[in-house]
Amino acid sequence: MDEKEVVSQDTLKDIEEIDKQVEESVQGVDSTRSLNEARNRFLSKAGAISALMKNMRNIPPEQRPSVGKLFNALRERTEARFKALEEILKNSELQKKLEAEKLDVTMPGISAPWGAYHPNTLVVNDLVSIFSGMGFEVFEGPEIENDYYNFTALNTPADHPARDMQDTFYISDELLLRTQTSAGQIRVMENKKPPIKILSPGKVYRSDDDATHSPMFSQMEGLVVDRGITLCDLKGMLDEFARKMFGPEVKTRLRPSYFPFTEPSVEVDVSCFACGGKGCRLCKGTGWIEVLGAGMVNRHVLEGCGIGDEYTGFAFGMGIERIAMLKYGINNMKLLFEGDTRFSKQFKG
Ligand code: DAH
Repeated sequence: MDEKEVVSQDTLKDIEEIDKQVEESVQGVDSTRSLNEARNRFLSKAGAISALMKNMRNIPPEQRPSVGKLFNALRERTEARFKALEEILKNSELQKKLEAEKLDVTMPGISAPWGAYHPNTLVVNDLVSIFSGMGFEVFEGPEIENDYYNFTALNTPADHPARDMQDTFYISDELLLRTQTSAGQIRVMENKKPPIKILSPGKVYRSDDDATHSPMFSQMEGLVVDRGITLCDLKGMLDEFARKMFGPEVKTRLRPSYFPFTEPSVEVDVSCFACGGKGCRLCKGTGWIEVLGAGMVNRHVLEGCGIGDEYTGFAFGMGIERIAMLKYGINNMKLLFEGDTRFSKQFKG
């Protein structure tokens, strides 16, 4: 007997209707999510096919085996339909992913932005290379210093008028931000027997802030202590430094000055490397440019560090920003403190 004959027209219509709805909802599926929604609508426990099956109770017993078979076939068909759709979807999603991740190895790379050495760094590197060629070693002292190292041991006791030459940031009665890299001289002389030949770069701090002063700036200190060191040795070494730093024609001259930790003290000028000494804007018409302070280390200072009479020494100190501005023709000090790579990229060592 043909199954259809024992199944009522209503049931057949119901099945047909579900087939139609499945086909319609399949058309709207375009993602795994919409696929699952559609599948649940027909195949979950609360779905349309289960609802239809629950109707078995109302079907006459003799029809039930045939109807059961038809319902099972409907479920299997629908499951297969969604399974097939799932495969297609997976493939197309994979395809899209592969498409999106496609890498063209022939495209030019994106280069990361590069910085550049700061003019200060270029000057320090130059100085270290010039002075290490003359046998100097680099020593870096602390930026937070004892009052003793920054002043007292440098022959500048508490009531000394020279303390007013530098406005100091005190942290406590004893501690301060060093105002000069000269403090490092003491640390070296306390710990090392002559011969001493050191170069000491670093940041220093003073309560000063205007167009030509910054509360933080950089210095380079030099110290030589040995038997028989004289002002002539200082002059000879400065000549060599000036030629290497500013050009082979450049000369130096010493002018008398005052620093508590040196005696005699001098101010060192170099002949103007812009005009050759004739007078120009850079040297303000004088033919000379002041570059550093120096002198013979004061006997009090040597004694305080336990260095005997048989030794003498010279010291010098310069401002790094000042040298950088002179060497690279920078006319505004603030540019050195802004950290703009468009500025620093303009300079090469
Ligand atoms: N410390 C001085 C300053 O900051 C610079 C200086 C002058 C250093 C003479 C020295 C020196 O070593 O001998 O103004």
